[in-house]
Amino acid sequence: MNRKITKDNPFKISFVCLGNICRSPTAEGIFEHLVNQKGLQSYFYIDSAGTSAYHIGEPANSKSQWTANQHGIKLHSRARRFEAGDLEDFDLILAMDHENLRNLKRLDRNGEHSEKIKLMRDFDPQPEDGEVPDPYYGGMDGFQNVFDVLKRSSEALLKELEKNIEKEKAD
Ligand code: 4NP
Repeated sequence: MNRKITKDNPFKISFVCLGNICRSPTAEGIFEHLVNQKGLQSYFYIDSAGTSAYHIGEPANSKSQWTANQHGIKLHSRARRFEAGDLEDFDLILAMDHENLRNLKRLDRNGEHSEKIKLMRDFDPQPEDGEVPDPYYGGMDGFQNVFDVLKRSSEALLKELEKNIEKEKAD
């Protein structure tokens, strides 16, 4: 995660939860929004995925979409399952909770990618127990809380990654 980031070698980041319909699509949408606001879109490839196959092909949950829309953010993900091959492809893989983290680490059989598999809330200035709580079976307040946690974490994450961006003279 400390490598130089250039337009020729964009930083590839995947946000991962269980279903890829609530938390990780929201993280993807918020991070993308922040990157776009700063005009840094050429420096990042932003993705999300789930550790389960439960919802493959589905758009983000309607409550997640509604909450993001309230903040001017569109979620356009289609759920996919995180595959072992993705470990090779991405520079940073951020799990939403400890269970997702364990499942990702299990995919990394030889531990060769362990450095790039982290918790999203490792970047949260108020990390609490390190988990982005699963909102799936709860009410709207859970979705709003997920949004707030992910916004705070994404802002801190981008601030950290921006230090590694090497802009060209014309930028
Ligand atoms: P997510 O939420 O992992 O944030 O997308 C969930 C979505 C679906 C289920 C659980 C959590 N499910 O059990 O189907």
